[in-house]
Amino acid sequence: MVYLDNAATSLKKPWQVYASLMSNTIFASGNAGRGGHKKSFETVKKIVDTQDLIAKLFNIDRPQNIVFTQNATYALNTAILGTVRDGGHIIVTEMEHNSVLRPVSLLGNYTVVKADKKGRIETENIIKAIRNDTKLIVCTHASNVCGTVQPVSEIGAVAKKFNIPFLVDAAQTAGCYEVDAEKINADMIAFSGHKGLLGPLGTGGLYIKNPNRIMPIVTGGTGSESESIIQPDFMPDKFHSGTMNTPAIAALGEGVKYILKKGVDTINEQEKELAIFFRNSLLNMDNINVYGYSDIATVAFNINRMSSEEVFEKLKNKVAARAGYHCAPLAHRALGTEKTGAVRVSFGLYNTRRDAKKMIDYVYSISKNMQG
Ligand SMILES: Cc1ncc(COP(=O)(O)O)c(C=O)c1O
Repeated sequence: MVYLDNAATSLKKPWQVYASLMSNTIFASGNAGRGGHKKSFETVKKIVDTQDLIAKLFNIDRPQNIVFTQNATYALNTAILGTVRDGGHIIVTEMEHNSVLRPVSLLGNYTVVKADKKGRIETENIIKAIRNDTKLIVCTHASNVCGTVQPVSEIGAVAKKFNIPFLVDAAQTAGCYEVDAEKINADMIAFSGHKGLLGPLGTGGLYIKNPNRIMPIVTGGTGSESESIIQPDFMPDKFHSGTMNTPAIAALGEGVKYILKKGVDTINEQEKELAIFFRNSLLNMDNINVYGYSDIATVAFNINRMSSEEVFEKLKNKVAARAGYHCAPLAHRALGTEKTGAVRVSFGLYNTRRDAKKMIDYVYSISKNMQG
């Protein structure tokens, strides 16, 4: 089975990640911040070390403003529901994942900015959507459907000019494409730990530049200020209620360490080389529609007239890829695939040219059989 579903999660991790998960589960599983003993302090240090590594990766000068969550969905909900609690207006784009669209639709007062046919957002259209009561702008850094990267630096500059907080969903870019908090003018960055950052499942987080602008959506024990019934106001405790999954956070740190050593640019080049090879081969075949730009190593396509599910049925015993709507229904409206969905192939660090070649052969054979 060829694994080409890295946009869902990176199946394989560097060995240091597994070793850390195992050793920290056995030797460093004290409850962070609970108790003034060595075992508790050790786990606090694991959290701080991982914050430092992520801060380095994202060019963040206050590592304590990075909070850990169980995934990007939780981080995005924290950012959205914690920032807009008063019915204020939110701007989102057609290319968002449901982890943005669903909390926003729960709140009710929002504008969806349209993308072009390749899934790109025009900054001008964000400006047009701004209202007096706009409290938040949310934009995905890269589409999880077709890999199109958005002009987040430009959108961030606009948000800054209008003094509106800007939330970037870096679920698809963290670890495999440059995420620089300063360059993109981000007030908040949500990330998955288990995709490009190569950490274990159940990890993710949120960077919050100005924590005073946002309320926690979950409160409770933090191990700090235990004498008070009021949630601490300092970072990261304000958003770290309940026992943390420290072995997984420490293992995530190992994933990030690996990325820092190898270099995001090198990883990006390596993955993109495979994606471009695959994409160009599809473009040279008859009957194949390819969508978006694949600025990251994600390629979406359909084989003419077949639904993506039908193609997937033919592939499913040979390849782990994904068909359907990828939790991003409005992105399919933009790409014109709202009736068919799309087949998505996403390359990761451990894929090889051989994997790409195999997939090209599978697609070619399905499209040939379809013609005959
Ligand atoms: C763009 C985007 N945002 C958010 C998410 C949610 O990430 P998680 O699975 O870590 O909750 C995903 C997951 O695929 C995604 O692709």
